[in-house]
Amino acid sequence: MATPADAAQILDIYAPFIKNTATSFEMEVPTVAQFAQRMAHYLAEAPWLICEEDQVIIGYAYASPHRGRAAYQWNREVSVYVHNHHYRKGIARLLYETLFELLSLQGYTNALAGIVQPNEASVRFHESLGFEKVGTYRNIGYKLGAWRDVAWYEKFLGEESAAIPTIQSMEQLMSSEAYAKIILSANVS
Ligand SMILES: CC(C)(COP(=O)(O)OP(=O)(O)OC[C@H]1O[C@@H](n2cnc3c(N)ncnc32)[C@H](O)[C@@H]1OP(=O)(O)O)[C@@H](O)C(=O)NCCC(=O)NCCS
Repeated sequence: MATPADAAQILDIYAPFIKNTATSFEMEVPTVAQFAQRMAHYLAEAPWLICEEDQVIIGYAYASPHRGRAAYQWNREVSVYVHNHHYRKGIARLLYETLFELLSLQGYTNALAGIVQPNEASVRFHESLGFEKVGTYRNIGYKLGAWRDVAWYEKFLGEESAAIPTIQSMEQLMSSEAYAKIILSANVS
């Protein structure tokens, strides 16, 4: 589990995507303090996971709120970034699978991902994790000299059931035995 103290290292991975690509619709790189604040905000409700090699962060995945109205509360938007020296080692898969297990334990039922087009790696990656395409917003953003489409993907995290889960807090999640077990077994060989 990340903490806001990891902001600088995470920003090292993320900032090039803000500056040089349309993968993120953010236009200006936030300061480390601003980014730490964002992390604390998201971490108050859901996991923000990091993958480390020799204590250096090489990838991360997090879950942010989808929309504010109460009936949307069981959804999270998810996102994953891996350092480009470490692609195709299964790191993003491990981060997402772990994130989904934890979100599901908390009672979240849907993961949603918006992918700025084109991004073949991300589309293939999300499809390989069982995401299904919902649709595409056309020309929904303008960055780096062009209008951009965003394709949305969804994944159901659990069985559909009549029982409506109460979302567990991060304190409840992190004090559970299941949490410790999931985190301890999350390794890339
Ligand atoms: C998309 C991204 C997160 C994938 O990370 P990764 O750690 O390389 O992915 P994994 O190794 O876990 O790949 C799992 C599966 O996803 C698919 N996949 C991943 N990258 C792919 C690529 N470039 N082309 C085709 N399929 C790909 C494959 O099915 C892969 O399984 P395989 O390697 O056994 O064939 C990574 O490319 C990245 O960080 N990109 C930049 C940031 C970004 O676009 N994030 C998503 C924002 S929506």
